[in-house]
Amino acid sequence: MDDIWQNCYNDGWQGDIVPEAFSHPAKFSRGLIHRIYQHAKDMQWVMAGDWVLDPFGGIALGGLDAIAMGLNWIGVELEEKFVFLGQQNIELWSRQLKGWPNLGTARIVQGDSRRLKEQFSMQGSCRPVKCDCLNGHSRQSEDCSLIISSPPYADQLIQKNSGSIDRKKQYKTYRSQGGGASFEAFCRTQDLHSTDYGHTPGNLANMKEGSIDAVISSPPYSEIRQDGGSSRDGIKGLTNYSGEPRNYWPTQRDQKNLGNVPPDTFWEASREIVQQCFELLKPNGKAIWVCKDYCKDGKRIPFSKRWATLCESVGFKIIHWHKAMLVKPEGEQDTIRGTQYLETERKSFFRRNHETKIKAAKFWPTLDIDIQNEFLAMAQKQVNVKPTEKKILQKAQVLAFKSECLDDRPYENEIMIDFEDVICLVKE
Ligand SMILES: C[S@@+](CC[C@H](N)C(=O)[O-])C[C@H]1O[C@@H](n2cnc3c(N)ncnc32)[C@H](O)[C@@H]1O
Repeated sequence: MDDIWQNCYNDGWQGDIVPEAFSHPAKFSRGLIHRIYQHAKDMQWVMAGDWVLDPFGGIALGGLDAIAMGLNWIGVELEEKFVFLGQQNIELWSRQLKGWPNLGTARIVQGDSRRLKEQFSMQGSCRPVKCDCLNGHSRQSEDCSLIISSPPYADQLIQKNSGSIDRKKQYKTYRSQGGGASFEAFCRTQDLHSTDYGHTPGNLANMKEGSIDAVISSPPYSEIRQDGGSSRDGIKGLTNYSGEPRNYWPTQRDQKNLGNVPPDTFWEASREIVQQCFELLKPNGKAIWVCKDYCKDGKRIPFSKRWATLCESVGFKIIHWHKAMLVKPEGEQDTIRGTQYLETERKSFFRRNHETKIKAAKFWPTLDIDIQNEFLAMAQKQVNVKPTEKKILQKAQVLAFKSECLDDRPYENEIMIDFEDVICLVKE
């Protein structure tokens, strides 16, 4: 099934998450994640009591609909700051939904999803109660019915915050929910968190992209199985770098063995994670990935297709591909050139930020040197996280552009990415 989903971006998270959580730079859209759960329910891919896993848990936004549908959700997230915000969101929902019948559970844990199976199995003894039949026993492979997730991107260009968020509105919500920090302190924290995903070693977003073709055609793991077969002829036979069973990771004793280092290019690490997702799913379990192409050096990078290919390479089969439109149809208008279809565009803030930077860099040389120096001095004070000349110059350009120029037209040769891909796959 290939189809178009409209109107998935009309609703926001206002009131449904703690205000600090808005700083996450790549949240699920409220409408889209709701639609995805509704789709999974309509297709009978899950029923109350089932387990749903998100290996890129973020601030737990996949958890809300899961709880409301009586499902048990586990998110694994690498960055502590997001885990903390995710936990606060989950606490908020438990207060808001108190008394609702047949609620599910949600838990976000801090961990590196390159060790996903370990993380998931550890949740058995300490997971929140509700579904008593599974209580007290460790999570096993194939306990999971559904994976819903959105991977980070190996492209820092699209990961910076646009600064176009309405901080005043967020602050109002923050105060109304009992937050005590001053507006300036609140903005500082938000800006610090929203500049990128984070820098914890193992964060896929900071890894070199590497080559998907190499990862697909020749898995990064040892090609040689312990029984001598190839790792590609059976999922169960996959071994890790050192030829150990895949869920074995180095202990202190053998960490020096370079063959044991975890995968460290984006596509290698992603394969490691997608592979474990496959193993954790029940037969006939489904995985739903939200992905999006992006632009780099003026070219469209077909990220979604690459992600789908990666999933297929570990054994998944694509069953549905939905395009969730970021532009909204606003009707038609007759013009002298014929009928024009009107659209309202909703750009991600990565996108808006990227465009602003390009426009700002073009605008910069039109300024007098004295004015440039003023903005450079201003930028120097504002770039707090690992300041480099490039970062300061970019900040100065954006400050100058925003204060001097209100040109909001698309820049030349702009490539529009006007949908997110929702790719549904099955483990057959
Ligand atoms: C696209 S975001 C997901 C956001 C999430 N869907 C939400 O709405 O809250 C991807 C997340 O993956 C996390 N991440 C990156 N590398 C990871 C890893 N190795 N293990 C677990 N999480 C990781 C990032 O910190 C980021 O929060």
